[in-house]
Amino acid sequence: KTRAGKPPLTVRLASPRGFCAGVERAIRTVEEALALHGAPVYVRHEIVHNTHVVARLSAMGAVFVENLETVPKDRPVVFSAHGAPQSAHMDASARGLIKIDATCPLVLKVHNQIRRHDMAGRTVILIGHRNHPEVMGSMGQAPDGAVILVETLADVAALPCLRGPLAYSTQTTLSVDETKDMIAALKARFPDIAGPAREDICYATSNRQDAVKAAAKECDLFVVIGSATSSNSTRLVETAKIAGAADAALVEDAGKFDWARLEGVTTLGLSAGASAPESLVEEFLTALAARRKLRLDHIETARENVVFNTPLRLAS
Ligand code: F3S
Repeated sequence: KTRAGKPPLTVRLASPRGFCAGVERAIRTVEEALALHGAPVYVRHEIVHNTHVVARLSAMGAVFVENLETVPKDRPVVFSAHGAPQSAHMDASARGLIKIDATCPLVLKVHNQIRRHDMAGRTVILIGHRNHPEVMGSMGQAPDGAVILVETLADVAALPCLRGPLAYSTQTTLSVDETKDMIAALKARFPDIAGPAREDICYATSNRQDAVKAAAKECDLFVVIGSATSSNSTRLVETAKIAGAADAALVEDAGKFDWARLEGVTTLGLSAGASAPESLVEEFLTALAARRKLRLDHIETARENVVFNTPLRLAS
């Protein structure tokens, strides 16, 4: 644990990192719902994919559920930042629940796009990861079978000859580079396919990937603070490896890190997924500083000033 006799460690700290505007809004929404309605406030799915955020809100009186059956009628239910299928919204209304929607506005944009395509009679091909809640919510904006999911280039190649008008949308937290390849493959197979003017990957996902790319070169190890369920965090680990880091790891928090991995590392990259609190990055830096003398290198590739109002504040 001691840093005596150890070589100094250069830490390349990527920025932007950590909380995005959609995550901040979703967390504030639960806090405001608790202040307004008192505990318990029910939340459909983890409000954002971070164990620490969920534990803190649970301690404040939030109750996380996967389906709405157990939610009593007089209690509010917050829909998570990832969005939900239309069936869940209808279910909440039918059960008379007080529904508060914390779906990120950038996910709602994709939902609206899918609904518009469906109403215009277009089959939608959605690029995303199967079983991720955002993908389930987006697929659930149109009737069964109206949205086809593709995860890989092989999936695109295996698509049948689709007749009729087509469009594509994407999950918001994908790898920017992989998605470009997927879109190119879709356009090669279906030249008339309609798509968004700009891809659906959100500003926070692409900014965090850009910063990791800039910071990852020459890193012996790149650490991304985030939970294993977090899609954008997982993409940052992949991005670091592709961008030249010799090794990369997704780390829940300093306590879960295998410190033996620091052996022989002279340059360490550090970032955090969009759902990971900055306090976890600070704790990790403190734990590093206890072991090695640090030299901090700030790699900043963009500044963000996006803020989304919460649905409760808008309503009041
Ligand atoms: Fe929204 Fe992007 Fe964050 S879709 S929740 S701003 S990662």
